[in-house]
Amino acid sequence: MTVRPRRVVVEARAKLNLGLAVGPARADGFHDLATVFQSISLADTLTAVPRRSGFTLRVRHENVALRGAGGAAHLSVPAGGANLVLQAARLTAECAGIRGGAAFELVKRIPARSGLGGGSADAAAAIVALCALHGLRVSRTTRLEIAAQLGSDVPFALIGGTAVGLGRGDRLRPTALDQPFRAIVAVPAWTVSTPEAFRQLDLVKYGLTGWKTKLRFAQSIGRRRLGESRAAQLGNSFEAALGKHRSDFESLCDRLADAGVERPRLTGSGSAVFGIVPARVAVRTVVERFPGGEALFVVRTMRTGVSIAARS
Ligand code: C5P
Repeated sequence: MTVRPRRVVVEARAKLNLGLAVGPARADGFHDLATVFQSISLADTLTAVPRRSGFTLRVRHENVALRGAGGAAHLSVPAGGANLVLQAARLTAECAGIRGGAAFELVKRIPARSGLGGGSADAAAAIVALCALHGLRVSRTTRLEIAAQLGSDVPFALIGGTAVGLGRGDRLRPTALDQPFRAIVAVPAWTVSTPEAFRQLDLVKYGLTGWKTKLRFAQSIGRRRLGESRAAQLGNSFEAALGKHRSDFESLCDRLADAGVERPRLTGSGSAVFGIVPARVAVRTVVERFPGGEALFVVRTMRTGVSIAARS
C-alpha cells in the first residue's frame, strides 16, 4: 500500500526564454512559436496538506530581489478560483480521479506578468504536489496533457531544464546547455499582458520577418547541446511590439550592458530583461554599477523544473 504524506513541499522554478520567435496566428487563436526555454533558480514554494474535500489557497509574498521590490503590479496574483494553483488542482483531481482535497500555501517570489513563467510554474507545482499527496503515480504523458490544458508554458514548467519549445510552446524537445550560467534579471515597474502582446505582434507583423528560417533553426538545435549565444540568435519577437515601453526597454538593456552583463534581452512577452554575467565578472560588481530603480534578481540555470523539496 502507498504511504500518503501529510505534507508535500514543491519548488516551482521560473524560466527564461533564451530566444523566442513568434510565427503566424493559427486557427485556434494561438500562435506558432519557436523558443528555447531555460529553468532558473528563482522559485516559488508550494506546500500542500490534505483536506477531506475541496481546495484552498493562501498566498504570501517574499521579496528576494537584490535591489528594489519590482512594484505592486508584480505582487498581486489572482486569489480564489482564478489562481492557476486551484485550476491545476481541480483539473488534476478530475483527470486522475482524486476524491480528497488539499490546502495549499504559496510563497510567491517570482514577479507576476513579467515573462518569467511564475503562474505556469505554480500550476505545474500543483499537479506534482497533488499527485504526491495522494500517492498517485500519474504517467508523464498524462501530466503533460493536464499541463497543456492549463497554459502553453505549463508543460515546460513541469519538465524544466533546457528545452526547445515549438507549436504554441507545448511541443518540447529537451536539450542541454553546453555551459551553465549566472544571469541578472531586471524587472521594471510596468507589466505586460501576454494576450495583448500577441495582439500587438499581429498588428506590427515584425515577428513574421524570417519566421521560417528561425523555425528551421530551432528545429535543428533540438537534442544537441546548446550554447546560450546560439539560442540568442532566435532574438525575441516581442521586443518589436513593446509600443510605448520600447524606450524604457532600450534604456534598461543599455544600463545592464554598461553594468557588465552580456546580451541583455526580453524574456517571454516581458517586461523582465535578463543578461548573462560573464564567468570572470562578480555579480556584486554588476549590481553596484547598475543605475536605476528596476528590481534586480541574480539567478543561475537549473537542470530541472518543478521538484519535490520535502515530503513528510
Ligand atoms: O497559453 P496561455 O494561457 O499562456 O496563453 C495566454 C494567451 O496568450 C492566449 O490566450 C493567447 O491569446 C496568447 N498566446 C498565443 N500563442 C501562444 C501562446 C499564447 O497567442 N503560443
